[in-house]
Formats: sequence, C-alpha cells, structure tokens
Amino acid sequence: MVADLELVALRKTYPGGVSAVEDVELVVEQGEFVSLVGPSGCGKTTTLRMIAGFESITAGEILIRGQRINDLPPEKRPTSTIFQNFALFPHMTVRRNIEYGLAARGIKSAERRERSNRIMEKLDLLTIADRKEAGLSGGQRQRVALARGLVVEPRILLLDEPLGALDANLRRSVQNELKLLQRTLGITFVFVTHAQSEALILSDRIVVMNRGRIEQVSRPADLYTRPRTPFVARFIGRNTLVMGRLKDASGLIETSYGPMRGVVADSFLRAGDAAQIVLPAEALEPHRETSNEAALQAQYQGNLLSARILAVEVVAHTRLIRAALSDGREILLDGHTGHAGGEGLVAGSSLWIGLRPEEATIVAADKR
Ligand SMILES: Nc1ncnc2c1ncn2[C@@H]1O[C@H](COP(=O)(O)OP(=O)(O)OP(=O)(O)O)[C@@H](O)[C@H]1O
Ligand SMILES: [Mg+2]
Repeated sequence: MVADLELVALRKTYPGGVSAVEDVELVVEQGEFVSLVGPSGCGKTTTLRMIAGFESITAGEILIRGQRINDLPPEKRPTSTIFQNFALFPHMTVRRNIEYGLAARGIKSAERRERSNRIMEKLDLLTIADRKEAGLSGGQRQRVALARGLVVEPRILLLDEPLGALDANLRRSVQNELKLLQRTLGITFVFVTHAQSEALILSDRIVVMNRGRIEQVSRPADLYTRPRTPFVARFIGRNTLVMGRLKDASGLIETSYGPMRGVVADSFLRAGDAAQIVLPAEALEPHRETSNEAALQAQYQGNLLSARILAVEVVAHTRLIRAALSDGREILLDGHTGHAGGEGLVAGSSLWIGLRPEEATIVAADKR
C-alpha cells in the first residue's frame, strides 16, 4: 500500500535566515493519526503549512499517495487544514461556512447542499445550520471548523492545535469525537499539539520535534516507556535522568549512586561512553527502610536507590512521592496506592526505591 504522505529531506529556511525545519523525513500510512509535538518554535506549524501549501519549501519533497505535490497550490492539494482559532467567517451562517470550500472548488449548489447536510448530520450541526459564529459555543465552533475541513473529503486532514481554545472538559469530549470521526471516516490526520497528554491519547504515532528536527517517531506507549534521546526523556512523561558511564553495552551503567541496569535505547552507544539512565516516575517502586535490603537488591537486580521522603500526596488511587536521593537530588515517584507497604511512607522517613531494569532506559549524555 502506498503511503498517504511522505516528507523527504524537507527543509524550510525563512527569509532572513531562520532555519525552521531541517531534513524532516516522515512516512504516514493511510488512515493513520499522527501527532507532531515539541516545544514552541520547533517547526510544527511550518511543517504543517508546507504540507498544506501555504508555505513554500526551501528543499526536499512532499508526496501524497506517491505523487509529488511541491508545486501545487493549496486548493489543488487533497488536504484540508483546521487552524487553532478555527478561522470561521463571522458574517456567514454555519451552512455557508461549511459550503465555502465546495463553492471555491466550483461545486454546484444542489450538491453543495447535499454534502453539507450529510456532514452536519454526522457532527450534529443541523439544528444550528442558520446561526452565525457569534451564536455558537466553543464546542460548536470547533465542530463547524471540522465540518468545513471534512466536507471537501480530503485525503489528509491537517490540524494545528484545534482544541487549544477549549476548556478541559469540552476538550476531552471533543477529543473523543475527533478520534471516533477519524476512525469511521478512515482519513489520515496530521495533528499539531502542545499538549503531550492529548497526543498520547489520540495518536497512532507521535513525532517529537526539537529545533526543526525530528527527535523520535514512536507509538505513544513506546515513546513513553522507551525514549531514545535525552530530549525526549525530558519532554515526555516525568522522568529523572541520572548521568553515568556505560560499562557494558548490554545495559550496565556506573552512576554516582552505584551501578544500575537499563535497556540501551541508542544504538550508537558503546561501552565507556558517557550516558544517562532514565528513571520514569511511574516505574519507581517505594519500599520502607525496614525492608530486607538483600532481597530488594535481588528483586531489582541492583537497581536500588536509597532516599528520604520529602512529601507524599495521595490523590484518588495514586500516591505521589517527592524524595531526595543521597546527594540531595530530588526524584519523583508516582505509584498506585494499592501497592503493598504504603503505611510507612511518610515525609521525613527513609525509603528504598526499586526499578526493574527493563523499565529503565539508557540514552546518550547531553550534547555540549
Ligand atoms: N513567517 C515567518 N518568518 C520568519 N520566521 C518564522 C516565520 N514563521 C515562523 N518562523 C520561525 O520559525 C520557527 C518555527 O516556527 P513554527 O511556527 O513552525 O513553530 P511551532 O512549532 O509551530 O511553535 P508553536 O508551538 O509556538 O506554535 C520559529 O523560530 C519561528 O520564529
Ligand atoms: Mg505552531
């Protein structure tokens, strides 16, 4: 099956010399939901605008279903874009907003009406078809923007932070709708978001960008459990990173807290290299100071840290522990209250922190 979207060595240098996107390579399969995440200014919007045709390409290629579209104007591309502010026309009714793209493509009024009716029905907009933007709620505006993007039946829907303006509750319900819609229509989504939790929930794969480059492309669960770079380890999840030197490429690292074991995620790392071990807050298991140390050492194959509890916070079924390691460095544990031995875990007491080696990841040292 030919891929829906292919970015080949894609680059964008803005006039004035800002290098916004550098050698981006990405293949998106048909019907896939791919999110672009990364800090402000890392090139997400620029990438999306190049795909949509609103921004020229400095170098590289964009292919949609195998066809090079570098030089096609936006309205000739099989893409639709939904922007953060939705960009509805305030003087037009919901229906006219939705039919706008069809009119621009020269589609006759009878067919326009039929297609707008169909999408409005799907998105539950028929009852408000004659209203204007000012009379719509945030969620309704969002659905109108979606309808407007979908009514032209794009192969690829490009969404730039479309949920940014919604409050938390509405955002969650629109997230669900969006995912459902994407599944039933089978359209490919490229979704830009600041909120990593949103990307983790919605996406088939996540692209993490940093300074115009792709750091990692992974399924959400893999991204979370297996960061391949220090940047991703800091950006996704709540990890503690500990510096050390790789003793053995199979995953033994010497740290200031003693030797530790993890899975080496960077194939360029060799024994003797400076490296760091990533300790995910969710994988760290607390044990009371009175526990049998030898048994814990064996259980965790030596991945055992001694620490002192600074604060404990229990919310519903999770227990958040902030603790200080032997050198005073803070570490975060996020566990289930169902775990045994929670009684002695109070501020001021000492504890052992265990981490199973398969849940720790070893990445490169930070670049200087
Ligand atoms: N029209 C422009 N002219 C010059 N530089 C630009 C232009 N648009 C964006 N840039 C720069 O390109 C870089 C990437 O910007 P872009 O808008 O793609 O980032 P982003 O990842 O979408 O950020 P955000 O999360 O803040 O929306 C930034 O350094 C930005 O200042
Ligand atoms: Mg942006």
